[in-house]
Amino acid sequence: MNFGVYLHIPFCARRCDYCAFATWTDRHHLMHGYADALRADISGAVAAGMPAATSVFFGGGTPSLLPAEQLVAVLGAIPRTADAEVTVECNPENVTAPLLAAYRGAGVNRISLGVQSMVPHVLRALGRAHHADAVPRTVGLIQAAGFESFSVDLIHGAVGESLDDWTATLTRALDLDPPHLSAYALTVEAGTPLASDPARFPDDDDQADKYVVADALLAQRGLANYEISNWARPGHECRHNLLYWSQGDYRGFGAAAHSHVDGRRFWNVRTPERYIDAVASRRSPVAGEERLDDDARRMEGLVLSLRTRRGVPAASLDVDALDEGLVAPTGDGERVALTRRGRLLANEVALRVS
Ligand SMILES: C[S@@+](CC[C@H](N)C(=O)[O-])C[C@H]1O[C@@H](n2cnc3c(N)ncnc32)[C@H](O)[C@@H]1O
Ligand code: SF4
Repeated sequence: MNFGVYLHIPFCARRCDYCAFATWTDRHHLMHGYADALRADISGAVAAGMPAATSVFFGGGTPSLLPAEQLVAVLGAIPRTADAEVTVECNPENVTAPLLAAYRGAGVNRISLGVQSMVPHVLRALGRAHHADAVPRTVGLIQAAGFESFSVDLIHGAVGESLDDWTATLTRALDLDPPHLSAYALTVEAGTPLASDPARFPDDDDQADKYVVADALLAQRGLANYEISNWARPGHECRHNLLYWSQGDYRGFGAAAHSHVDGRRFWNVRTPERYIDAVASRRSPVAGEERLDDDARRMEGLVLSLRTRRGVPAASLDVDALDEGLVAPTGDGERVALTRRGRLLANEVALRVS
């Protein structure tokens, strides 16, 4: 059985204009106490019978901002299977050779690098802290440190990004030979600086064009699409994300982290202060929970699976979707998966699943 552990690291050097994640730029003084709280919380879960993790994911925020010894100490508290996938999300501006060496030594075997764009004016439009030059340098360090796998995360649709800019981002990223690549359409999240500036909203048609260019280029270079926004060389698919998409069990630790165990969903308090305080005073950091009934759970499973190349049983979609070229039969013929056109209209196709 697969079991995932997610660690949320809610600190960033600077907030990107589009990001609504639970992260803070003015609370670095809490890092030490936060890492201690994570370890204490994990130890409690282990004592209560938490199974060994088949995947561990440090996400954020910016996990690479946390001093390496603190991240390593947190990882050390998590029981893992011998072949566990261990990913750390890193931002190019704060990755160094000693940081990567410390990760490697502790069992981290996958880096997910937040690149977003390889074009300077697009990085500025996104409000990113790093310069495009930092990316090849960082990937060189990741390769030299001996990581088995790494991913490059990209975003398309920033204001002023032309189709040529996006193609340049893709080709420069592909020149770094990443085994895995994520490309997200920029979304406008409430409460962000981006949301208050309609002149900078992305355009749907432009994003669709960029998706088509990405999928074609990535396929040409041996990266197969395995979820709407994710591509990988065979064997480099992210096991942790596959677990989410197959409704597997996982425990999330830290501020705003979500968990899913035996059909029960629960999530933690949102701020690092409240999380540290709850753990220190031996109260539960859980802020809310829900349980899906069997029908809702089955539907959610179908919709998640539809977004992946595994697809859904042919009988769960109306025949029109096949006729319209939105889905096509997969290898065994019993299932259907989204075509490229279907992936562009995934939300509409999902409404036709039953
Ligand atoms: C929350 S970030 C954390 C990792 C790291 N701090 C970084 O910036 O890459 C994880 C991924 O979510 C993406 N993301 C965050 N907000 C987004 C948005 N509004 N639209 C599309 N992608 C977004 C980021 O660009 C990044 O690739
Ligand atoms: S996108 Fe990443 S670096 Fe930017 S604010 Fe969000 S978590 Fe921080």
